Amino acid sequence: MRTLLDRSVLFFGGKGGVGKTTCAAATALEAARLGRRVLLVSVDPAHSVADVFDTPIGEAPTRVAANLTARELDPAIEAERYLGAVREQVAQLFSATVVKQAFRQFELAAQAPGLEDVAVFDRVMQLVLEPVAGFDLLVVDTAPTGHALRMLAMPDALVEWLDALARRRGDIVSENDRTPGSRDADPVVASLRQRSARVQAFQRRLTDAAATGFALVLTPERLPIEETKRAADTLDRLGVGVPAVIVNRVLPVTAEGDYHAARVRQQQVYLGEIAARFASYPLTTVTQLESDVHGIPALERVRAQLFGTA
Ligand SMILES: Nc1ncnc2c1ncn2[C@@H]1O[C@H](COP(=O)(O)OP(=O)(O)O)[C@@H](O)[C@H]1O
Ligand SMILES: [Mg+2]
Repeated sequence: MRTLLDRSVLFFGGKGGVGKTTCAAATALEAARLGRRVLLVSVDPAHSVADVFDTPIGEAPTRVAANLTARELDPAIEAERYLGAVREQVAQLFSATVVKQAFRQFELAAQAPGLEDVAVFDRVMQLVLEPVAGFDLLVVDTAPTGHALRMLAMPDALVEWLDALARRRGDIVSENDRTPGSRDADPVVASLRQRSARVQAFQRRLTDAAATGFALVLTPERLPIEETKRAADTLDRLGVGVPAVIVNRVLPVTAEGDYHAARVRQQQVYLGEIAARFASYPLTTVTQLESDVHGIPALERVRAQLFGTA
């Protein structure tokens, strides 16, 4: 599992409640212990990093252990900031009348579904492309699978859309102004192209398996297995590396009692299925602890299981 840390960006994903945050935090803790300077960012609106570290966190980067800083992105704040930046750019590029109309649209856009996702995506892109000074490992605790994968698939659609917009705008510019090069001199075309280049750079980082990995967390149960297999296939299709599949909440075999024995047998069946269906991925297991993972001492136990160190 140690090789998991040979990267500069690690995403943790999986179905809701399987232990994404717990495993992301335990991994961040291990890296920090090894001297990496780690920034753990949660983009799951259902934040639980604060629970895991048993300390308030929130929007502002908060130091939670030596070498380890955590931050929980607030989608509403990200959306506001994102609209603000767009507003500023529009104000620079267009005439006062256009800007006035556009701002009216922004009031509507602020309520539009999806804006928060786009804004959070933009923030993650920024964190990946322009690492915050003083950190050399970014760990991203993602929202449940479907949501996280939609975010990672965004670049594909975005690049196409931005390029189409740039072409369309370029055509209009050249129709109105026949001087050669007018298309390339247009600030709107330039801004769209710049943005497209940025999204493509992000995509290159995502698909560079030496730099970026997407660790998948699941529990030995029917639905998480199916959802995680689909996620692994999608990541494969997107060209994103999966350096770890973590099976969490595995029951210890030693415990007594018929009820428990039956649960253990059931898990053994699923564990066998996981071993077969995720055979091509580095697999590791974490046992079910007797209580929730709250606070660093409990987290240390998960960390030790994942990385095999005391
Ligand atoms: N191995 C484990 N043993 C005991 N409790 C666990 C374990 N892994 C996770 N939990 C608990 O399960 C709940 C969900 O875990 P969490 O990491 O927040 O999941 P997710 O981020 O996937 O929604 C939390 O209360 C957490 O403390
Ligand atoms: Mg979580």
